[in-house]
Amino acid sequence: MRIILVGPPGAGKGTQAKAIVERTGVPQISTGDMLRDARKAGTELGERAAGFMNAGKLVPDEVVIGLVDERLQRDDASIGFILDGFPRTVPQAEALEALLSRRGTPLDAVVQIDVPREMLVERAVFRRIDKRTGQSYHLKYSPPPPGAELEHRADDQAEIVEQRLAAYEAMTAALLPWYQAKGLLRRVDGARPVDEVKAEVLKVLGVGSAT
Ligand code: AP5
Repeated sequence: MRIILVGPPGAGKGTQAKAIVERTGVPQISTGDMLRDARKAGTELGERAAGFMNAGKLVPDEVVIGLVDERLQRDDASIGFILDGFPRTVPQAEALEALLSRRGTPLDAVVQIDVPREMLVERAVFRRIDKRTGQSYHLKYSPPPPGAELEHRADDQAEIVEQRLAAYEAMTAALLPWYQAKGLLRRVDGARPVDEVKAEVLKVLGVGSAT
């Protein structure tokens, strides 16, 4: 299974990617997580990316394309992948198409998670991550257990979330007609509770219900 999850910041891409991993065993490849790991490790790439990320802007295409190209060559991705947060621009989508075509492994589907703008800021601003486990929580909708060591993503401040939403509308939304024209796009209503969204995502991917 080779799929892409697309949606604005806070749509639930990471949350749903984990459900697909549990169901199918294919790895989740999140460019946001890879860039944050690079930043934590203090690499040159991480430092460069941090400036863009903290301003709510997209990291340059060549940086993320290089990361994904390298990641897809790892053994675990030979059975498939769930790309979460990549591609975000048409040049990234074209680069992905070229590299998958060289390998003879085309995409199966692109799942778009739709959530109204007014819900997105709240989802991001109240998100917290457990530093030890990497598990993501929401202070209102999926509260963390007692004792979790929580951190608040630097780009989850309301004004930066607004910038990220603007970047999504300006750059990433253009991908949707591109994938629609290729017959790959599947749309899911992401404004419902996590388990309902999960059931629909698994259904459109043809891998059964969430139960
Ligand atoms: P990235 O980390 O990819 O962030 P994002 O796309 O903005 O998405 P999020 O992680 O904020 O949200 P999500 O959709 O995964 O939602 P989640 O499941 O966590 O990218 C960060 C930055 O890196 C970018 O701004 C950019 O600078 C850079 N970058 C990354 N990839 C790039 C690329 N390809 N090109 C250029 N730059 C790139 O859910 C959010 C919250 O809501 C959680 O608290 C969750 O518990 C809750 N929640 C989820 N679903 C539901 C639900 N159904 N009901 C209630 N609550 C829910």
